[in-house]
Amino acid sequence: MSTPAEELFGPRYPGAAQYVELLADRGVTWGLIGPREVERLWDRHVLNSVALSDLIPAGSTVADIGSGAGLPGIPLALLRPDLQVTLLEPLLRRSTFLTQAVDELGITDRVSVVAASAKNQHASFDVVASRALAPLGRLVGWCAPLRAPDGAILALKGSSASDEVQAAASVLRRHHLTASVVAARAHPRSEPTTVVRLVSA
Ligand SMILES: C[S@@+](CC[C@H](N)C(=O)[O-])C[C@H]1O[C@@H](n2cnc3c(N)ncnc32)[C@H](O)[C@@H]1O
Repeated sequence: MSTPAEELFGPRYPGAAQYVELLADRGVTWGLIGPREVERLWDRHVLNSVALSDLIPAGSTVADIGSGAGLPGIPLALLRPDLQVTLLEPLLRRSTFLTQAVDELGITDRVSVVAASAKNQHASFDVVASRALAPLGRLVGWCAPLRAPDGAILALKGSSASDEVQAAASVLRRHHLTASVVAARAHPRSEPTTVVRLVSA
């Protein structure tokens, strides 16, 4: 039987497999991925990232804030060639890894790397995505200015999602945002995760 990743990526699977190899090799050597993560790169990292896919409209511009080794932005770009993805990452070693990865994966036409913090950006995106970036209140301060007026902020959060929404209530009010907590999964046989989706109130 094929794996969930093979079924989901279909003809794009070889690109996703090349990225997983890159994470397992250079990602570990450069200290971006813990050695113990190698055996769960597909489930915990790639499939978890593309669980966002159903929440992203066709043809969107997407910013991945605090992309690290490319998560969730690179798996999303590999699965969804209709997206224009910007990976924002201020740490030099990580942004260098991202630039090399995007080049080697042959996706420079639709993925760009910006070696900077979200705080210094003035661009505007349909979707501002993040994973493991910061507590929701702080994350909103960085991501809200980058959201297009009709756009969404999508934060992969896992089980803390509802508590974080409650804790961030005053920040959400200040930015005129309303939150929904969405159960998402990439494939019927992959692990579910929880996403906080923020749009204009
Ligand atoms: C815990 S890592 C998560 C990396 C990746 N998103 C993942 O899920 O594996 C958080 C990343 O956010 C970056 N970061 C922290 N503050 C940031 C900011 N204000 N703007 C953009 N990136 C930031 C860090 O450099 C780091 O690479």
